[in-house]
Amino acid sequence: MDLLKQLEKETQSLDFPETIEIAVKFLRKQVKHYNWVGIYMLEGEELVLRAWDGPEATEHVRIPIGAGICGLAAREKRTVIVGDVNTDPRYLACFPYTRSEIVVPLFKTGKVIGEIDIDSNTPHAFTEKDRSFLEQIAHFLGTKHR
Ligand code: SME
Repeated sequence: MDLLKQLEKETQSLDFPETIEIAVKFLRKQVKHYNWVGIYMLEGEELVLRAWDGPEATEHVRIPIGAGICGLAAREKRTVIVGDVNTDPRYLACFPYTRSEIVVPLFKTGKVIGEIDIDSNTPHAFTEKDRSFLEQIAHFLGTKHR
């Protein structure tokens, strides 16, 4: 079974908050280069961390929409991949060992409602395959949102 189907099955009787809790753990467990996985939800002008899984907590639990790679993805309503976070001035550092990052928006009726944020300890870890996989996951999560 593919990973999307597996996640759909594991969360079929769950509501949105429960689903994102499962989703962050599932993604981190299933994909080796996903070292820290978080889901931020857009609340007013801020992205608020609502679920995460990783070796340690981030201090960035609320990110203004004007800041970071997270803010950029929400403002521009598109997936953002940063191959080398150390050379990107827009990057908000969370962990010293993070080397690359992907942020994928969640949409509801065309509007950004949140996003998946994944950090990898490997430089240039995220490819078009990750983008397409995570956009499918994001679409699924959007359909669960009430
Ligand atoms: N790096 C993000 C901030 C969130 S942490 O990765 C958990 C950014 O630049 O927006």
